Amino acid sequence: MRFFLFLMCFLFFGFAEDDLLARIGLNKYLTGKYEPKDYVEDFAMVPPKYSSKTIYLRKEVLKAFFKMADEAEKKGIHLNVLSGFRSYRYQKTIWENKYDRTFLKKFPDEKTRFYEILKYSAAPGISRHHWGTDLDILSLDGTYFLHGKGRREKQWLDENASKYGFYLVYSPGRKSGYNNEAWHYTYKPLSEEILPLVRRLKKEDVLGFHGDENIKDFNDFMEAYMFDINPVLLR
Ligand code: DAL
Ligand code: ZN
Repeated sequence: MRFFLFLMCFLFFGFAEDDLLARIGLNKYLTGKYEPKDYVEDFAMVPPKYSSKTIYLRKEVLKAFFKMADEAEKKGIHLNVLSGFRSYRYQKTIWENKYDRTFLKKFPDEKTRFYEILKYSAAPGISRHHWGTDLDILSLDGTYFLHGKGRREKQWLDENASKYGFYLVYSPGRKSGYNNEAWHYTYKPLSEEILPLVRRLKKEDVLGFHGDENIKDFNDFMEAYMFDINPVLLR
């Protein structure tokens, strides 16, 4: 059965490695419409040493993360994980909490509010956190990385993360898309294979959240928020 799925993946989708995507269904995988606990062969939980929350990542990602974190530990750096896999449903709660509540008073105009939220939060269905390949570490506050302990941690990551396959996604120097995120890393060996598949998504695959009518041209939207990223992650 596994070989059959593998063959189907290769023939129909053009990806040979990742039969997980075929088992979940390509669109469901890309848009986070599944639960990792239903795929325990492929996902594992970040252990309590690195997070007190229930956070799932793809097993390949976690394995590489352990190697990186062990080396960091030798330099006195503890890489705590703040976020990993997020489902469509969870991203929708983050998004709608902002859209319907926390951003409402300050940005009453819907279009303005939509783009203000998009400075740091992906719309449900287009977050790389749906893939289990990306994780947020250390702090969600950019200023943390500018001084003292945070600065030393950042320096270590800048010099070493790529040795383990980890790269910043929302790096400085981009022209559009999200603001810079010093905390959001991706495991490139997996995610660089996944990213091109996102071009197969249609607007209908992601709709279903408050404010979604603000997505006008889906291709332009995806160019800015999916593809304007650290160029080393693009093929
Ligand atoms: N913060 C990133 C863009 C996300 O929500 O996926
Ligand atoms: Zn993130």
